[in-house]
Amino acid sequence: MAYQNLIVEIEDYTCLIRLNRPDALNALNSALMAELAAAVTAADRNDKVRCIVITGSEKAFAAGADVKEMATKGFADVFFDNLFGPEAEAIARCRKPVIAAVAGYCLGGGCELAMICDFILAADTAKFGQPEINLGISAGMGGTQRLTRCVGKSKSMDMHLTGRFMDAVEAERAGLVSRVFPAKSLLEEAMKIAAKITEKSTITAMIVKEAVNRAQETTLAEGLLFERRMFHAAFATEDQKEGMAAFLEKRTPQFRDR
Ligand code: HXC
Repeated sequence: MAYQNLIVEIEDYTCLIRLNRPDALNALNSALMAELAAAVTAADRNDKVRCIVITGSEKAFAAGADVKEMATKGFADVFFDNLFGPEAEAIARCRKPVIAAVAGYCLGGGCELAMICDFILAADTAKFGQPEINLGISAGMGGTQRLTRCVGKSKSMDMHLTGRFMDAVEAERAGLVSRVFPAKSLLEEAMKIAAKITEKSTITAMIVKEAVNRAQETTLAEGLLFERRMFHAAFATEDQKEGMAAFLEKRTPQFRDR
């Protein structure tokens, strides 16, 4: 598929998706979001993909939803459109690991998109924020929920109510970001981390993703039971036999996703 707002490359089992609206700091408009949902869904179904990396430019991961596109909309427009709801759900439904590699501005819908990903790697230039309040709206693609679960109520309220930006150091300290790299090496490091994941059994990686995501959705008892059953289920795979045999034989495992 030819994309107008993305650059998509698949190499060595990693699908790299670059948001590509440089003139608007990668602001998320309807066309970009539709393409992104399609690209992630296609990568999820593609046997040649085991991990997905979503990134932006040096200046911006994404500066939020496109204000020019939203400015004249009324309640009924966004209500019936369900603005970005289906696209966000499609990305969140992806069963393979998705990494956000964030440099520069990561604001509003951009921050929400990064939080839909499984984990966030940040450049030391990254700036995270939920500044929607300055536009007379609240976050609308998960920010009030995911940021709160991620960094706790106090910092989430601070971010949403003041609209201030958080730098990479604060974001890592708060648990929003898993690791920070110098901006010039962010993408290289993100691809190395993706490559590490592609070496694993994709079945196991998908089980892990499902189990960790349960922690966000359910009670501890239900989550522990889910984890236990997924752990048991892993023993039905050839990859479990291979992983354990390789350990005992002191060699690298050859996973076959079976
Ligand atoms: C549309 C945007 C944009 C956006 C930047 N641009 N952000 N266009 N929507 N969200 C455009 C600018 O209009 C400008 O285009 C060009 O990108 C460069 O931006 P500048 O403002 O000139 O750059 P700079 O001075 O460096 O400031 C960068 C910035 C600022 C701090 C990131 O652009 C900014 O505050 N952007 C808006 C951030 C925001 O409020 N995000 C939340 C959006 S609401 P021109 O053509 O003028 O040169 C949201 C809701 C999500 O995300 C819910 C979805 C369901």
